[in-house]
Amino acid sequence: MAFPEGFLWGGAVAANQYEGGWQEGGRGMAMTDVTTGGTVTEPRYVTYIDKDGNHGKMRNGGTLPEGAHYAVLPEYHYPNHDAVDGYHHYKEDIALFGEMGFKQFRMSISWSRLFPTGLENEANPEGVAFYKSMFEEMRKNGIEPLVTIWHFDTPLYLEEHCGGWENRETIDHFVRYATACFREFKGLVHHWLTFNEINNTVMFLPFSGNTSDEAYQGAYQHLHNKFVASAKAVQIGHAIDRDNMIGCMICGIAWYPMTCDPADILLANHQREEGVYYCGDVQVFGEYPTYATRLWNEHNVVLDITEQDLVDLQLGTVDFYTFSYYMSNVVTTHKVTDTVKGNFSAGARNEYLTYSDWGWATDATGLQWFLESAYDRYQLPLMVVENGLGAYDTVEADGSIHDPFRIDYYRQHIEAMDKAIENGVDLWGYTTWGCIDVVSAGTGEMRKRYGFIYVDMDDEGKGSMARSRKDSFYWYKKVIATNGADLSDDFEK
Ligand code: BG6
Repeated sequence: MAFPEGFLWGGAVAANQYEGGWQEGGRGMAMTDVTTGGTVTEPRYVTYIDKDGNHGKMRNGGTLPEGAHYAVLPEYHYPNHDAVDGYHHYKEDIALFGEMGFKQFRMSISWSRLFPTGLENEANPEGVAFYKSMFEEMRKNGIEPLVTIWHFDTPLYLEEHCGGWENRETIDHFVRYATACFREFKGLVHHWLTFNEINNTVMFLPFSGNTSDEAYQGAYQHLHNKFVASAKAVQIGHAIDRDNMIGCMICGIAWYPMTCDPADILLANHQREEGVYYCGDVQVFGEYPTYATRLWNEHNVVLDITEQDLVDLQLGTVDFYTFSYYMSNVVTTHKVTDTVKGNFSAGARNEYLTYSDWGWATDATGLQWFLESAYDRYQLPLMVVENGLGAYDTVEADGSIHDPFRIDYYRQHIEAMDKAIENGVDLWGYTTWGCIDVVSAGTGEMRKRYGFIYVDMDDEGKGSMARSRKDSFYWYKKVIATNGADLSDDFEK
């Protein structure tokens, strides 16, 4: 096996899907607090009260009707409010990660736990104390934190009253927040990621149902503002602690052409550029790529970019490149008869692959392809910071949970990483997604489970929050103990 000594095995969660405690410790609200639960076929909705006092809901990414305000409505369940109650269970959870032998745990800081509206000048001391305690707990268990500064949770106040990421002022609010993170957690954290899956804003725009030029204009400006915010944060993070390593995080979907028709090959390349490379190229190379002009022209986008922005992008390039990897997707210029129906997956079905219950293609070879092409393009250290299979789990009468399908999924993907490392890729770490069951970001469900650790909580918010070890827990523990050398089905309970 090729995994280098010191390889950072571990797992990942995000604050809004893990913590809960939405009204504790002085935390302010985020968009996820007004987002309902959904299913694979029914989208999640953002809820509001309109100017006449009527209750309303809209797709995430939509625009509030004039005079309306975001609101928590009594007729809906909001799964992120309590999530899996990491706010009160983190010590127990980190001990379980330690038992598995984690070297690294990726988590995110809730912006509104530190800056409840986003406008405050100083960070909320209770929020700071909470994360310090989490980091100290990790240290006790020999686990290095990998901290995502933004994982889908801009304070709701900034979204509602300040125009969110389409407004350049959000850059300054984010920079103040990121600076507080670097200062407060100096010495406790050395590995940071600025924005989770930054490329989703444009790549997933078609799922919002609005692909007008106006929507693209907003999405590309939103991204530009995040690029500048990230670049400024990188500069500040380096100045505060020279030991800080700061990376980008890209949603790593492998886009394939359906046929060898040259038109399909070109379409797949363009899809990779728009969906995946656009963001990584700016964050790694510090400037917009040549094809950016084509992308903007396709949607009549004209960006507000200042001279200082261009300087910041150059000065704030990232130290390493990370990505999530769940699936590949297929594009074609030809008529499609067999389509994929899932949440955040669409297009032609790939006849060579199998699909999860949520319509996501299992494709470990795609991970090898992604690793090799990303390393070839960027020549920076890589980390796979999310990977996993969302699936149903059954708790047996004796409390055990057998998840051979999950073990199988991980085995295939670890083998793919192994091959990429053998082929020269400098891969530093692997944090599986939802190492403990969390609320699904896409559907808001609990039943779409990824964890090695089961959490007793259902889609209606019923359950004890008790934690238990699945079979995959023991298997992953062995994988880590052997540094990836033993991926067999044998494991000791
Ligand atoms: C990534 C996100 O898109 O995929 C995570 O960074 C998310 O937040 C993960 O949970 C899996 O998606 P889902 O919809 O199954 O939770």
